[in-house]
Parts: sequence; C-alpha cells; structure tokens
Amino acid sequence: MKLEIVPDYAELSRRAAEIVIAECRKRPQIVLGLATGATPIGMYRQLVQAYQRGRVSFSRATTFNLDEYYPIAPDHPHSFRRFMHQQLFDQVDLAAERIHFLRGTAADVERECSRYEAELEAVGGIDLQVLGIGENGHIGFNEPGTPFHLKTHKVALTEQTMRANARFFGSLADVPRHALTMGICSIMRSRKILLLASGEKKADALAAALLGPVTEAVPASVLQLHPDVTVIADKAAAQRLA
Ligand code: PGA
Repeated sequence: MKLEIVPDYAELSRRAAEIVIAECRKRPQIVLGLATGATPIGMYRQLVQAYQRGRVSFSRATTFNLDEYYPIAPDHPHSFRRFMHQQLFDQVDLAAERIHFLRGTAADVERECSRYEAELEAVGGIDLQVLGIGENGHIGFNEPGTPFHLKTHKVALTEQTMRANARFFGSLADVPRHALTMGICSIMRSRKILLLASGEKKADALAAALLGPVTEAVPASVLQLHPDVTVIADKAAAQRLA
C-alpha cells in the first residue's frame, strides 16, 4: 500500500486527479470505478479542467459508480446519479452508453445487482477504483459488519451514515434508509484502488483501516489485502497514522 500525505484538500484533489489522468492516458479504454460524496468533488473539478485544457479525454472510457440510494429516482436532486452528472459526466466527453449506474428505482433488487455484476464482468472489471472512506470505515455503502465476500447488494444504512448524509438532504427524515452498493468482493477485484481521505473526521477511520487488524468491523481495512492501493490523505485525516 502506498500512502501519500498531502498538506490539504486542494493538494489531495490535484494529486488524485493526476493519478486518474495518468491512468486514462496509459489506457484510453480504461474502466473507472467512481465514488460520490464530498471528498472527490475537488478531484472531479480538476478532471473537468484537465479535460477542458485538452490534457485528458474520456471518450473511450467506461465508468461504474459504487453505489446509489434505494429507493431514489435518477433525477432526484440528491441521487448519486444526478451528483455525477453535475460534477463530471455532463462536463466531459464520456459516452452515455458507457456510464454504468445502479438503478435506485429497480423493482427487482436482486436482478438489478446481478445485472450490475454481469456488466462489470462483461467489460473485464475495473481498472482504477476511486474510494472515499466513511467516518465508520465504510467503503461504498459497505457498512461495518458487511461480509467481505459480498458482491453488489442492497444495504440498510446505519444511523451514523444517514446522519452524515443528512447534510445533503437537508433533514435526516429525507435520507433514504437503504442503498445498493458494489460489495467488498466487487471492489477488491479492481486492478488498482485510490482511497481518498480528507479532514479530521476521517482520522480515526483511516488509522483503523490502515494500521488496525483486517476486520469486517472496519470495511476499509480489507484494502490491506489488495496488491495495488494508493491512499491519499491530507494532514488532518492522517493525524493518527504516526
Ligand atoms: P464523504 O463520504 O466523501 O462525503 O466524506 C465518504 C464516504 O462516506 O464514503
């Protein structure tokens, strides 16, 4: 595992974008695994700028997003799909047919999860997966206690995660209680993983994930078992790693 500690969020965003850009240039037909949340917003901004300056193209790239609330309409102001359109998809040259998302309106959840796994398999898996980390150590919406062997599945969000996400919805009551997420097993199959952590609130989770035992109680700790992980943390998030 490679750990890069950077001074602040701006530098984290710049470094993360540089890694994504370098991988996209190496392999224009790259399969990217993408994350939502506050952490990658700066990275997406950098990617959009790089695209506008002609430094990177996504015209042959494929994307899979990690997770989506359930139930939620795709055009709901706080759906992850809408977030991705605003932050990235609508501003770069990604082909609509190569953007993959879990459908928060799917009637048959099991079928939806199998569809997603089949699509992942059909493109040969993810080349570069971007991850954030939850305050409770979750990755995607794989909450503490999620078995490592699970593929894409439906989860009940923990109270802590719903509270953390209430800032986007305005009130806790409006946060969906479930989500669909790629599982730990799906994530671990990615060839390369980039984990981003910013801010003091992530310090305990990051220390537990990187320095603690590999345990389902801290989902991100599974990354210790992956052969190609880069962690970029700002100083605030890295403060308990010493
Ligand atoms: P955040 O969420 O980037 O909004 O902090 C990360 C996560 O919960 O995985």
